[in-house]
Amino acid sequence: MPNDLNQKIYVAGHRGMVGSGIVRALEANGYKNVIGRTHAELDLTNQAKVAAFFEQEKPDQVYLAAAKVGGIHANNTYPAEFIYDNLMVQNNVIHQAFVHGVKKLLFLGSSCIYPKLAPQPMSEDALLTGKLEPTNEPYAIAKIAGIKMCESYNRQYGVSHGVDYRSVMPTNLYGPGDNYHPENSHVIPALIRRFHEAKVSNAPEVVIWGTGTPKREFLYVDDMAAASIFVMELDKKTYDQHTEPMQSHINVGFGSDVTIAELAYAVGEAVGYQGKIRFDISKPDGSPRKWMDSSRLNRLGWSPNISLETGLVRAYQDFCK
Ligand SMILES: NC(=O)c1ccc[n+]([C@@H]2O[C@H](COP(=O)([O-])OP(=O)(O)OC[C@H]3O[C@@H](n4cnc5c(N)ncnc54)[C@H](OP(=O)(O)O)[C@@H]3O)[C@@H](O)[C@H]2O)c1
Repeated sequence: MPNDLNQKIYVAGHRGMVGSGIVRALEANGYKNVIGRTHAELDLTNQAKVAAFFEQEKPDQVYLAAAKVGGIHANNTYPAEFIYDNLMVQNNVIHQAFVHGVKKLLFLGSSCIYPKLAPQPMSEDALLTGKLEPTNEPYAIAKIAGIKMCESYNRQYGVSHGVDYRSVMPTNLYGPGDNYHPENSHVIPALIRRFHEAKVSNAPEVVIWGTGTPKREFLYVDDMAAASIFVMELDKKTYDQHTEPMQSHINVGFGSDVTIAELAYAVGEAVGYQGKIRFDISKPDGSPRKWMDSSRLNRLGWSPNISLETGLVRAYQDFCK
């Protein structure tokens, strides 16, 4: 059945990197009634305000891409805020969506839900099989609660109320709208800033911490947005065939990973930096590999379109705006 392009779709976090990508993709797909509220307009940790918003707007679908996110430093410094804000945002949005008759909701989690020592690539069934990485445990616990909340609402209200709430777990994302803060950004935006500054100041070398050998996976945000809409729009029978009621989340990865050294050279190329890259091996490496098993999503018929090289060029154009 064709999708009704007049449905009212609420994207929570529509100004964020992923939320704005989802809005772009929905509008490109022809959806005419996509709504959002900024953090200043609606604090999603406030239950009464979230309830009033749903009462007023009565959306048909919800993409939940609002969250308090940050790197290791922020997670270590503000663990209370990471667990409280994220639990409150998702509890309020998921529950008020249910109370106001929303049948379809997509919750965005993160690859940090998986145990620190999960076998690589990390598949959906690694969830809750071991201890989490301590630095982002509060954030990860909130994300795991979000998955379990969607599943619990499906189990209790799926038949009686037609509730169909799904979850996707993205790998590391990058692209337009990323956070380029000098101390508090993820690896790609941090490298883009450093290579750009080195280019502008004609610095002879850029020093990268560690050996450059750890491997990481990266997905361009527009691919993530496309995957989110793909999962949301899968017909229920197909979705149910590929998931289980208590293990329903779907990984969204690129499918392959690169070493930090390969990434650094690719960022240098995208930025147009002519100097040298040096690896400071006296500095620590993180975990050797973090790679998601995206075969469940691939079997459902989705795979990414945007190569790392293309994505980095686009991300750098956005950084320069
Ligand atoms: N970026 C990645 O690499 C990555 C990887 C895996 C998963 N994810 C997931 O993808 C989702 C979106 O991430 P993102 O990278 O797009 O983050 P982002 O750019 O920081 O966007 C998050 C948005 O949520 C809003 N928000 C946060 N707390 C709020 C609150 N209490 N009330 C209302 N709005 C609030 C933020 O507004 P303010 O900025 O004004 O607070 C921001 O617009 C998150 O669930 C994240 O866990 C991201």
